[in-house]
Amino acid sequence: MLVAAATAVLIASGSTAYANCDPGEIVIKFSHVTNTDKHPKGIAATLLEQRVNDEMNGKACMQVYPNSTLYNDNKVLEALLNNDVQMAAPSLSKFEKFTKKFRIFDLPFMFKDVNAVDAFQNSETGQAMKTSMVKRGLLGLEFWHNGMKQFSASKPLLVPGDAKGLKFRVQSSDVLVAEIEAMGAVPQKMAFSEVYGALQTGVVNGQENTWSNIYGKKFFEVQDGTTETNHGIIDYLVVTSTDFWDGLPDDVRAQLTTILREVTEKRNAESTAVNNDAKDAIMKAGGVVRQLNAEQRQMWVDVMKPVWTRFEGDVGKDNIMAAQKFNT
Ligand code: LMR
Repeated sequence: MLVAAATAVLIASGSTAYANCDPGEIVIKFSHVTNTDKHPKGIAATLLEQRVNDEMNGKACMQVYPNSTLYNDNKVLEALLNNDVQMAAPSLSKFEKFTKKFRIFDLPFMFKDVNAVDAFQNSETGQAMKTSMVKRGLLGLEFWHNGMKQFSASKPLLVPGDAKGLKFRVQSSDVLVAEIEAMGAVPQKMAFSEVYGALQTGVVNGQENTWSNIYGKKFFEVQDGTTETNHGIIDYLVVTSTDFWDGLPDDVRAQLTTILREVTEKRNAESTAVNNDAKDAIMKAGGVVRQLNAEQRQMWVDVMKPVWTRFEGDVGKDNIMAAQKFNT
């Protein structure tokens, strides 16, 4: 397996190589879709790989496949169930086929910042969500943070009316489809790996994402600008299959759990800073970032918040109220 120094070189160079696993080691393939630097998930996955390979040498070996090199998020959950990969961290928007409970995380203006998301996830309701798909063979291990979503488009967006008639790429979530329709725009579900090309060729005119994704996949290069709306969140569930997890020797499962917990705490505490850096990097690279005044922001809230009512049945009114408490 690669030694820590070699891993560090790979992180620094941003290149991708996979640990050579020794015979007898349990191989854990971790597939994800983002870049590895200036990205909360990319950094966390690389750190996890490094720690597992350093501290569990001889027992377990992790290989992280970033940038959709192995699977995109729409395929990775099936791949987990087939044991083709053993870990992934799709955004919570991508679990729709398995649970409707996560829809709460996609409701626009539900959480004012990542701290509110963190507090909700750490509540009893949030923690129970990790085991909500066990019957379907998937087990959530930890929530990983990315950050608040912003809108980018092929023209300046200051009020919702500016988005009218534009086509926006969304993740595979019906809540996000409803959100875009509420703006009078046209939603199109699409895999993350296809977004840059679709923006460049005009297949879609805009998209919503975090600063780290807009920077990491260079969306800002093929957009007029990005408006700081903070209208929603992108957060992740580190997920495995119950078959794989239950089949691990107890000591391996326990050590992995501890390492994953420590990586989660360390990297989640940095997610907002990583996104702020990505935002600065966008501006330094010449990307346009627009701010809303209070009146303009309220117009986006007024247009999008009615979406909540439509999904109240899926997420539970009591859960919405519980989530709202963490915004104060
Ligand atoms: C997206 O599809 O836009 C995001 O879920 C990608 C990611 O993993 O952050």
